[in-house]
Amino acid sequence: ESARKEGFPHFMLKEIHEQPRVINDTIAGFGRDYEMGAEMLHSGDTIFVTAAGTSYHASMYFALLTAKLTGRKVIPFISSEYESYIHSASSGDVLLAVSQSGETIDTLMALRAFKALGCKVVSLTNVIGSVISRESDQAVYMKAGPEIGVAATKTFTTQLTALTWLALLIAQRGGRLDAEGIKSTRERIKALPDLVEEVIMKYEGWAKGMSRLIAAKSSAYYLSRGLGLPIALEGALKLKEVAYVHAEGYPAGESKHGPIALVERGFPVVFVSVEKSLEKKLLGNIEEMKARGAFTIGIIPQGSELGARLDEKVVIPSRDEVLLPILEIIPLQLLAYYTAVEKGVDPDKPRNLAKTVTVE
Ligand code: AGP
Repeated sequence: ESARKEGFPHFMLKEIHEQPRVINDTIAGFGRDYEMGAEMLHSGDTIFVTAAGTSYHASMYFALLTAKLTGRKVIPFISSEYESYIHSASSGDVLLAVSQSGETIDTLMALRAFKALGCKVVSLTNVIGSVISRESDQAVYMKAGPEIGVAATKTFTTQLTALTWLALLIAQRGGRLDAEGIKSTRERIKALPDLVEEVIMKYEGWAKGMSRLIAAKSSAYYLSRGLGLPIALEGALKLKEVAYVHAEGYPAGESKHGPIALVERGFPVVFVSVEKSLEKKLLGNIEEMKARGAFTIGIIPQGSELGARLDEKVVIPSRDEVLLPILEIIPLQLLAYYTAVEKGVDPDKPRNLAKTVTVE
């Protein structure tokens, strides 16, 4: 087993470090399956997208991005809740099922229910020949390679990369992006592997240091707005599942409708900022938390004005809103990993969790 870890103490850290390479592999694999998947999604009346856990966060991102780029109705839902969503679906709709393993029973049940209704199904998985890929009308794959750590890391960033590409292809079909626009965005996406590498190099030490503070806390909030929200939700899930620190991801604007009641001196609140147009509102939320004594940490783009108001900041070396979400989860993965290590728990095998959930 230690040979398979290639010198890393845990699979989770090895897989975090593999991200530049597997994102590159995923981009290199953007081919005909993506074109056909995008065509099928574009042809549907309403696009539904479903998944569980981390894959749900990626799906939520896809829904937000596709709606923003295309003006289309895109409805994300947690796969175990499919019975509530099937009522509003009809045979002209299309479902995108996202699952790294391609075996999650909740997502498979949602897929079968939509198929039974007559909907076309596109899948995005990491495993060729998995049941969800086999049962879909069009299978699309990320190329993350096998993920051993129970916590999803490289499968999440490759999902985001793949889903960004699908969203752009749908936008092209809807006339919202011309061939030139697609080409230049693909060029921008190609910058991702180097940028991911840069973020890991720059902020691994930061995450190690910050983990000492977080390991001593019993709770944390992860807040964001817009396209950053799925990243905040995923950051919170990572901390909770591997480091056993209670963490909640919330839309920043919603925090004053309840969650803020828990905030007192030193309570850690992580802010994730993606869209420049939402920065002013996010700044208001930072001020609200600071006024209650919160310890504020920001994952912010280069040039962001939020930096001056935060106790701690991680500045991502990009301002490109298409790339930022993928880059911004990296320091949060590292923070969760090092907090687990600091607490002396095994991040590869969190208690009570299985890599693939095959019971409903
Ligand atoms: C993520 O860290 C978890 N292990 C879990 O939420 C996971 O994403 C979920 O069970 C879905 O798995 P899938 O992508 O294989 O369908």
